Amino acid sequence: MIELRRHLRRFLFAVLFFVQFGAAQVAPLIANIGARHNTSLDGPWHVIVDPYDVGALDYRAKPLKNNNAFFKNYKPQSKSELVEYDFDHSDQLNVPGDWNTQRESLLFYEGTLWYKQSFDYPQSAQSRLFVHFGAANYQADVYLNGEPLGRHEGGFTPFDFEITDRVRPQGNFLVVRVNDSRERSLVPALTTDWWNYGGITRPVTLVEVPQTFIQDYVVQLDKGSTRNIKGWVQLSGPKLQQRITIRIPEAGFSQEFQTDAKGRADVSFNAHLALWSPENPKLYKVEIASETDQVTESIGFRSIEAKGTDILLNGEPVFLRGINLHEEAPLRPGRAWSDDDAKTLLTWAKELGCNFVRLAHYPHNEAMLRMADQMGVMVWAEVPVYWNIQWENPQTLHNAENQLQEMITRDHNRAALIIYSVANETPVNDARNRFLRQLIQDAHATDPTRLVSAALQNREYVQGDRIRISIEDPIANDLDVLGNNEYIGWYTRTVADADRIDWTSKYNKPLIMSEFGGDARFGYHGDSLTRWSEEYQENLYQHQIAMLKRIPFLRGTTPWILKDFRSPRRTLPGIEDYFNRKGLVTEHGEKKKAFFVLQKFYREVQSARLR
Ligand code: GCU
Repeated sequence: MIELRRHLRRFLFAVLFFVQFGAAQVAPLIANIGARHNTSLDGPWHVIVDPYDVGALDYRAKPLKNNNAFFKNYKPQSKSELVEYDFDHSDQLNVPGDWNTQRESLLFYEGTLWYKQSFDYPQSAQSRLFVHFGAANYQADVYLNGEPLGRHEGGFTPFDFEITDRVRPQGNFLVVRVNDSRERSLVPALTTDWWNYGGITRPVTLVEVPQTFIQDYVVQLDKGSTRNIKGWVQLSGPKLQQRITIRIPEAGFSQEFQTDAKGRADVSFNAHLALWSPENPKLYKVEIASETDQVTESIGFRSIEAKGTDILLNGEPVFLRGINLHEEAPLRPGRAWSDDDAKTLLTWAKELGCNFVRLAHYPHNEAMLRMADQMGVMVWAEVPVYWNIQWENPQTLHNAENQLQEMITRDHNRAALIIYSVANETPVNDARNRFLRQLIQDAHATDPTRLVSAALQNREYVQGDRIRISIEDPIANDLDVLGNNEYIGWYTRTVADADRIDWTSKYNKPLIMSEFGGDARFGYHGDSLTRWSEEYQENLYQHQIAMLKRIPFLRGTTPWILKDFRSPRRTLPGIEDYFNRKGLVTEHGEKKKAFFVLQKFYREVQSARLR
C-alpha cells in the first residue's frame, strides 16, 4: 500500500513536471569541467525537510502551481500575505554532502528535501553557461529563478543544465528538490546493504564555455593496440564545422582533424607513448583545440584485453590484486566526494598491496577515478543493478541503461578504468538474462576498448569429501571477465571447508573473485571459531587465500571490503551498530588482523608475479 502511494506520488510528479514545464531536460554532459572556466556553488545551502512534499503538492496531493510551490522561493509582499515557507530563515546543510550525517535527526531520513542557493553571475555576452551537478541521490528536480531546468534520476552520475538564457547578473536562486525514496521500479530497488545517503552528494559548479565549445571527446588507445590512438571530438553550438587540433606536447605530437556538419570529428593516429600501468601511471597532457575553444586533459594510454583465461594489460598477463570499496569518506561519516577522500582510500588500498579496486556497487565520484589514474590503481566500475530489480519493467531498463551511459561518458578517458560491471548478485531468470544482455551490449557498443563483467553467483556439487563449485550463469558467455561472490565460512559452510573446495568453470574466461570475507569488530578478540572476533576473520582469510591460490583461471581478487561501512541491514548491538563490519579497516582507520593476512598475500603475488 505504502509503495502504491509512493508510485502514485512519483507518477503525479512526472505529470506535474511535464504539465508545468514541458520537456525541460538535462543537457549532454560536458567533459572535464575541472579544466573549464568554472565557479563553485559549494558551501552551505538553505534547506527545507519536506516529508509530505508540501512544497510541491497541495492538501489534495495536486501539483502546486502558485507561489506556495517552494521552487518559487516566494516572499510575502505584505504583512497580511500567507506564505508558509522561507528558505532564508531555514536550516543550512553543506553541499556537497549527504543530509544523513549532517543532522542526527536526518540519519534515517528518506524522502524529499529542498535546497536553495542564491548567487550573482555577471556573464560575458559571448559565452554559454551551464550548471553541473556531480550527483544527487536519488531524483533531483532543478529550478532556476522560479522556472524548471529539468529532472535527473539516478543517485551516482553527473548531470548538467544549460542556463545561458535564464541566468541574470544578480539575485539568482537555484532550487533543487531531492527525493531518495526507494521503490521496486528504481535502480537500485528497495533493498541494499548500504546506507541510502540522500542529498546533493557531490560538487555543484557553474561552467562557462564559448558559444561553440568542445562538449566531449575520447582520446584512447584502440582495442588491443599499444600505438594506435582512436577517438572522437564533439562540438556543441552554432559553428559545428571547425578545424580541431590535438597536441601531446611531451610526445612532440600534433595533428589536425575536421568536424562534420554535426560537429563531430573522428580521430585516429599513431604515437609512441609510455604506457600507463600501476608501476608507471604515466599521464600525458593532451591539448584539444577548436577554432573557438580549447581544453587540456590528463590522459594515460594503456591497452586492456581478455585472452582465454588471462587479462592482458599492455599485452602482458596481469593479476588484479584488489579490494572492494563503498563511496564512504575515510575517518568521517558520510559520502566521500573529494580528492583527499580518494587519496586516503587509495593509499589504504595501496598499503594492502593493491593495484586494483572494485568501486561497489554504483559509479563513485570523478575525483576517485582521476586519483586512481594518478596513483596507478586499476578500477572496476559498476551500475547499481543490485540483487533484485524489476527485470520486466521497460522504464527500469531505460533507467539502468541511462546510468550506464552516464558512467561511461564521464570516465571514458580514464586509463585506470578497465572494467564495467553491469550487475551484482542477481537471480538467474529469463527476464534478468535479457535485461543484463542489453546492458552488456550497450557497454560494448559504447566503449569497445574496455572489459565488461558482472558479479555472478555459482553452483555447488558435493563429490565425496570434496566440494566442487562451478561458475554457471547463462550471461557468462556474453561477458569478457567473470566476477563471482562467495561467502564460504561466513554465510555458508565453515571456514575450514574452503580447504576441500575446488573451483571449475566451463567458460574459457578469466575469473575475478569479486567478493569474499567475514565480519569482525575491531578489538574484539577470541579463538578462531569465535564469530565477530578479529581471529575469526583472520583465519577465514587464511583459508580463503589457500583456496584461491588453487583456482587455475583466477586472475584477480577483491575481498569484501576495505572499510567498515554503514548499512541499515546491520543491527546487532555492540558489534554492528548499523555498520557492516567486513572491513579490513574500521571507519576510524584501525587495521584488523586480517588486513595483514591479505597484505602478505598481495606482497607474495607481487614479488612472485604469480600471474
Ligand atoms: C553481498 C553484497 C554486498 C554485501 C555483502 C555482505 O554479497 O554484494 O553488497 O554488503 O554481500 O553481505 O556483507
